[in-house]
Amino acid sequence: MKAILVDAEGEIAAAATTPLSLETPAPGWAEQDPEAWWAASCAAIRDVLARRPSARVEAIGISGQMHSSVFLDQRGAVIRPALLWSDGRTTAECREIVTRAGGEAQLRDWVCNPALEGFTLPKVLWLRNHEPQGFARLAKVLLAKDFVRLRLTGSIATEPSDASGTLMFDPANLRWSREMLDAVGLPLSLMPDVGGSAEVLGRVTPGAGKLARLEPGTPVVGGGADNACGAAGVGAITPGEAVSSWGTSGTVLAATAQPRVDPGLRAHTFCHVAPGVWYVMGVVLSAGGAFAWYRNQCARELAEEARDDILVDEAAAIPPGAEGATFLPYLQGERTPHRDAGLRAAFVGLSLAHSRAHMTRAVLEGVCFALRDSLEILKALGLAPAHLLLTGGGAKNAFIRQLQADVFGLPVTTVNREEGGAYGVALLAAVGAGAFPDLQTAVQRTLARRPPTPPNLDIHRAYEEVYDRFRKRLVAART
Ligand code: XUL
Repeated sequence: MKAILVDAEGEIAAAATTPLSLETPAPGWAEQDPEAWWAASCAAIRDVLARRPSARVEAIGISGQMHSSVFLDQRGAVIRPALLWSDGRTTAECREIVTRAGGEAQLRDWVCNPALEGFTLPKVLWLRNHEPQGFARLAKVLLAKDFVRLRLTGSIATEPSDASGTLMFDPANLRWSREMLDAVGLPLSLMPDVGGSAEVLGRVTPGAGKLARLEPGTPVVGGGADNACGAAGVGAITPGEAVSSWGTSGTVLAATAQPRVDPGLRAHTFCHVAPGVWYVMGVVLSAGGAFAWYRNQCARELAEEARDDILVDEAAAIPPGAEGATFLPYLQGERTPHRDAGLRAAFVGLSLAHSRAHMTRAVLEGVCFALRDSLEILKALGLAPAHLLLTGGGAKNAFIRQLQADVFGLPVTTVNREEGGAYGVALLAAVGAGAFPDLQTAVQRTLARRPPTPPNLDIHRAYEEVYDRFRKRLVAART
C-alpha cells in the first residue's frame, strides 16, 4: 500500500509504503483480507503525513487493483477474504455466465467484455455456489479502493473505471447492466452508486480521521482502477496514447474515443478515468509478479536491497534470446491472449550450459513477449501505437526499458514522475479539490515526457525469431 503526498505544483512532497501479503490457499487462487488493506492504508497515510507534519491535505484520491471482490454484509462487515484479479478458481462460473446470458455475443453487447475468472461477477457466483451461508449475508459488492473509501468516509460508491471491470457494468452506456444482473439472477442493490473519478464521493469521518491522522471532512474523490490511474499518471488520457505497465500484472493499453470492443473478446474494454475516454487493454497476469516469484525462489542468497539490480545486471550480459532458454510466465494462468486460467509457467530449452543469468534473462524476455502478445492484438484492432509510455517497475530500469523497446520494435517513453497510479489519482484529487479545471489541464501542468528510448532495430529483428519460439513453446504451459 503506497501513500504519496503531492504539493500544489505537482511535486511529490513525501511517499510511504506499507507491505501487504497475498494468500494462495490453493494453486491458482489469490486472496487478501480487505481489513488488511484498510490497516495498511492507515499506516501508510500516517507515515506519509509524519514526513510532512505541516502539510494540509486538500483532497484524497484512491486507486487500486481491479476486479477484487469485497463481500460486505448489511452492517458493512467483510464476509470473507477478497478474491483477487489474479484468482483463477471461477472457470465453472464463467461458463455459467455465458450459458445464462445466452452466449458470448450477449456479453459483448451488454458489458463489452468476456467472462474471465479474474472479473468480479464470476466471484459473486462462486460465493453463491460454494459458500451459500456467506452469500446469504451478502448486501454489497465493492472493489478494493472503494472499500478503503468506505472505511475512510462511510460512503458506499464506485466510479466507471473500476465498475467496468466487474462484468456487471455497461462501459458503453455508463450504467450497471440490468441485462447481465437479470440473466444471472442478482439484484441491482448489490452494486454501489456510480459517481465520477474526480468527483467528491465522501468525506473523512472523525473515527477514520483519528486512525489515519487526517482532518475529518477531508474530501475523497472517486479515484480509479490502477490501470486507468497508471495511464493518467503518465499523461495517457487522450485517444491515440498507449501505455505498457509492468506491475505485479503487466498490461498494454490504448486509449480510444469510443468503447472499441475486440470482436474475438481477447482484450478488455474499460472506461478511462478521463470522462468520454475508454481503453482497450491486454493483461499479462504475472509480469513483475513472475520476476518477484523467480527472485524469491531462485536468488534468496542475494542481499535483499541489491537483489533485483544484481539479477538484471547479470541478465544484461547474456545475448538476446538467452541462448535458447525460454520462460513462459503463466504462474497464475493467462488472460491475454490465451484466456486460460489453467496455463502454468515453464522454463523450456535449458541445458547444462545455462546459468542463473540466462534464466533471469529468459524471465525478463518472457514477460516482454507476453506483453507483446497484447500489443499484437491492439495492432490487429487498428490501434497500433507509434510509441509506448512506460509505467511501473519496467519503467524504472534502463535495461528493461530498452528490452521493451527492442521486443516491441517501438520507441518507449517515461515521464518526470515515477509514482504511476498513485500520481494519476493524486491528479484526480487535485481536480476534485478545484486546483485544476479538469484532468487534461492537470496533466499538462504537471507532467513532462523524457526523451524516448528507440528500439535497436538489429536486436528487434533478432527478437522476431525468439518471439516466434516463445509462442511455439506455449504447449509446455498447458496442464
Ligand atoms: C487488469 C488486472 C490487473 C489488476 C492489477 O484487468 O486485472 O492489471 O488491475 O492490480
